Amino acid sequence: MDKFVIRGGRRLAGEVTISGAKNAAVAILPAVILSDEPCYIENVPSISDVKISLIILKEMGAEVTRTGKDAYRIDPTKIDRCCVPYETARKMRASYYFLGALLGKFNKARVSMPGGCPLGDRPIDQHLKAFSALGADYTLSQGMIDLRADKLTGNQIFFDVVTVGATMNAMLAAVKAEGLTVIENAAKEPHIVDLANFLNSMGANIMGAGTDVIKIRGVKSLHGTNYSVIPDQIEAGTFMIAAAATEGDVVIKNVIPKHLESITKKLEKIGVNIESYDDSIRVWVDGPLVKANVKTSPHPGFPTDMQPQIATLLTLAEGTSIITEGIWDQRFRYVDELRRMGADITVNGTVALIEGTGRLMGAPVKACDLRAGAALIIAGLAASGITEIEDIFHIERGYDGMEIKLREIGADIKKVSVPDKISENEPDTKAVSRNDSADDAEAV
Ligand code: EPU
Repeated sequence: MDKFVIRGGRRLAGEVTISGAKNAAVAILPAVILSDEPCYIENVPSISDVKISLIILKEMGAEVTRTGKDAYRIDPTKIDRCCVPYETARKMRASYYFLGALLGKFNKARVSMPGGCPLGDRPIDQHLKAFSALGADYTLSQGMIDLRADKLTGNQIFFDVVTVGATMNAMLAAVKAEGLTVIENAAKEPHIVDLANFLNSMGANIMGAGTDVIKIRGVKSLHGTNYSVIPDQIEAGTFMIAAAATEGDVVIKNVIPKHLESITKKLEKIGVNIESYDDSIRVWVDGPLVKANVKTSPHPGFPTDMQPQIATLLTLAEGTSIITEGIWDQRFRYVDELRRMGADITVNGTVALIEGTGRLMGAPVKACDLRAGAALIIAGLAASGITEIEDIFHIERGYDGMEIKLREIGADIKKVSVPDKISENEPDTKAVSRNDSADDAEAV
């Protein structure tokens, strides 16, 4: 088991480069299955969720070759298994994208119920509703989802809730279905648009991604492509807040400022200075931080995946802030850990009241999910003394070289191995790590 040890109180300054978006990459990699030719994907983040996706592709018979530091060639033409077993699927939420991709290509799929961050109830009824609308039958047994269709036919799909995963899965399954599919009440996140752009670059006909109505005219076949994943909006936001929490001055490169608008606006209200350029953003603090109220909601609202990080910043601000979580039932599980560091936060259901104390103190803490882990890193950077964060495998699911990037901008953070305790949820990505050199192209 690894942990992060942070000596807090150092001001972050310099430049940091953001990696490809996790939540785009974990959909684009399965989407390669739909192609009849090899695809070349760049700006793929080096995170364990990606490594697991690549292992799954390889287990199904795809040829996966690393062609550069963040680049892969994936040849799906030899895929001969339509099954994602429990052992791999349970390690990440996004394994559900193999359902849509396999169904779209082979008219059948067998995938274990997904795992992922424990954020509350995470049903997949809307995914199943979309697959059924396109003509697939499903059965659930022994923790496996089986999908089968004689043929997929375009249809009208109306989602009862705005859901990123089901919107993406409907796109994957509909892209080769006969006729027109119309997805209504679709999610509008940047990664939805990125998946649509990727599929269109393979010859798909998808219109309206980024709005709440997506129209897909089915095509007979999809060809290979060369594609670069968009920068990670949440990684960028996390570094913005780390800079602000340490009263730093950081230029964050490889970002799409438009994707960061809701985060930028909120941080400016809190007293953070932000200047946006074409593909970078400068964040600095030269005055007091003040309270703010935050409500998370689907894009273009304030992202739930930034909620723990901004809550941490607000513990350092003057005044009382209110955070309302609008997506997940249980996204305040990190609060107990922040309290150990001196934060004054009261939680009532999906609302948290934060009394800004202006200071945090180092403590031993545990990451309970990915963004909670990011919040604890920010807290540790801003706190006085030493913070030790356990269960950092959660953080490594979604942040590419977090501690290395932080060290490059002045943080005192190191990863320490503690050999005698293995958390049972920790994903085994060693099969990939062993082949993880980018020096020469090699199989993954
Ligand atoms: N929902 C349903 N039925 C469904 C699907 C979703 O009721 O069939 C509900 C959920 O319970 C939730 C809401 O709809 O209340 C939104 O869920 P959504 O489907 O949008 O979430 P997701 O696809 O499972 C993705 C990200 C999450 C992010 C959410 C919201 C990936 C792999 N995960 O999850 O990212 O919080 O969208 O933006 O894309 C993270 O990166 O830390 C993370 C948790």
